[in-house]
Amino acid sequence: MSSIEALKKIAAEKAVEQVKSGMVLGLGTGSTTRYAVDKIGQLYQSGQLTDIVGIPTSEATAERARSYGVPLTTLDQHPVLDVAIDGADEVDPQLNVIKGLGGALLREKMVEMNAKRLIIVVDDRKVSTQLGLVSPLPVEVIPFNWKFTARWLAGLGCTPVLRGGEDSPYITDNHNYILDCHFAHGIDDPAALAATLRNRVGVVEHGLFLGMVHQVIVAAAAGVSVME
Ligand code: A5P
Repeated sequence: MSSIEALKKIAAEKAVEQVKSGMVLGLGTGSTTRYAVDKIGQLYQSGQLTDIVGIPTSEATAERARSYGVPLTTLDQHPVLDVAIDGADEVDPQLNVIKGLGGALLREKMVEMNAKRLIIVVDDRKVSTQLGLVSPLPVEVIPFNWKFTARWLAGLGCTPVLRGGEDSPYITDNHNYILDCHFAHGIDDPAALAATLRNRVGVVEHGLFLGMVHQVIVAAAAGVSVME
């Protein structure tokens, strides 16, 4: 296992220490959260975690949780989650994050906005002083006239890039496209940008998760730190 993978595993497994029997869990998506799903699955299989249910944020996560026999549910059946654990692509000092390089931002936001506690797990490459400096901002858009939407996004001061390219665009679990928006000098006002994106027809959702995160667990070579 590479040192980066080892850090991802350490952060993810640290978060799972907060998972208790009887909880409704949000199961995030991505290469870091996968270690959390594995750990939850192992604890469930060994009987150390009982009576849990998980709400997956992607088809991939659902499949992985199922492989351990973890019972899955929906927001319809369990509208309030005790804890959600997920990765992120960038974290700022206010615990605002960019998510979506894994493609699951819409379902992640739908699920995690209903969590009493959202824990983000990252390695220290993701920690940033200003959102947009480390990661592009993924924006999920309706495929219909996506170039028109991309031009509008460019007018906000970024360079939007269709994920996967025009010949084989990446398709989300919700059958949409993703435009990865590169801000050369970072995002000056994430809240204003989020509001602008929210009001645009053709934009389905964006990867700014603002004011949602309760704790960030950061794994670095020097050890684990916690941002509250
Ligand atoms: C999935 O859509 C994303 O939000 C991921 O949680 C995020 O991209 C982090 O993924 P990694 O842990 O694979 O870097």
